[in-house]
Amino acid sequence: MKPGDRLMRHYLQFKDLRAEEYAYLFERTRIIKTRFKNYEKYQPLVDRTLAMIFEKASTRTRVSFEAGMYQMGGSVVHLTTGDSQLGRAEPVEDSARVISRMVDLVMIRTYEQAKLEAFAAHSRVPVINGLTNEFHPCQVLADIYTFIEHRGGIAGKVVAWVGDGNNMANSWLQAAEILGFKVHVSTPHGYEVDPARAGLRDRGCYEVFKDPMQACRGAHLVTTDVWTSMGFEAENDARREAFADWCVDAEMMAAAQADALFMHCLPAHRGEEVAAEVIDGPQSVVWDEAENRMHVQKALMEYLLIGRIG
Ligand code: CP
Ligand code: NVA
Repeated sequence: MKPGDRLMRHYLQFKDLRAEEYAYLFERTRIIKTRFKNYEKYQPLVDRTLAMIFEKASTRTRVSFEAGMYQMGGSVVHLTTGDSQLGRAEPVEDSARVISRMVDLVMIRTYEQAKLEAFAAHSRVPVINGLTNEFHPCQVLADIYTFIEHRGGIAGKVVAWVGDGNNMANSWLQAAEILGFKVHVSTPHGYEVDPARAGLRDRGCYEVFKDPMQACRGAHLVTTDVWTSMGFEAENDARREAFADWCVDAEMMAAAQADALFMHCLPAHRGEEVAAEVIDGPQSVVWDEAENRMHVQKALMEYLLIGRIG
């Protein structure tokens, strides 16, 4: 794919796609997942190569992209900071120019969004955000698909975000703006979401609650994340103290709708951001969420590389 080609699109944050493109992707995900479950071969990406660059640890993102790409007939190159010149200060722009001449698609997990954007600006091929300090759009894509699978649709619903105003929170807020639902946000003081950093047009898609119980009231989905994200480990002790009341427990779930779902992008720390009885309880759909990473990303890779099918 060359710069200027019709299909050259990046996926760097949730707002990079429009509502009708999400509707298309969710329908493609359903078809691709059904084929996978029926052991039907579907290999539209034969001879295509995905480079995956990890500057932070991963289990789900690596397995879901790698397995998904192989299942679609393609292949994968896996790079980390430690085993490539990325860790020896080769400029990100040069890395982008070189890597994107040899592969068809790049997935990057890194620190600052600006670094991902610099890579994308110098890439000949589509670039996907596999998590940055600011955003984690592929996870929210999977989470919303999971909600739709269980509940039919997310427009008009209420999602309670309990915890850090982090990359996941920002991506949920962008999704709410595009897909027409509301986020009730409750974070400890000092860890609030910043609408400018989240890239929101306005504040209409969310409401802030001091008390996490109040945020959960009437919610159709309660979701949380680790208290300390990757890259913020030095703040661990201060965060443990600040977040002590932001543990999603049975009482918070009881404040939500009777049929509310619980989600967590994982990895989880039982007894910190979520009680074991919640994450391991009947309202939790965390394993579906994790599996759906692979299905939604297969639809996303198909869309970025081939465009619309049919
Ligand atoms: N949820 C998620 O992105 O998990 P990994 O860090 O294991 O990739
Ligand atoms: N907010 C977490 C998500 C991990 C998948 C982090 O950035 O570490």
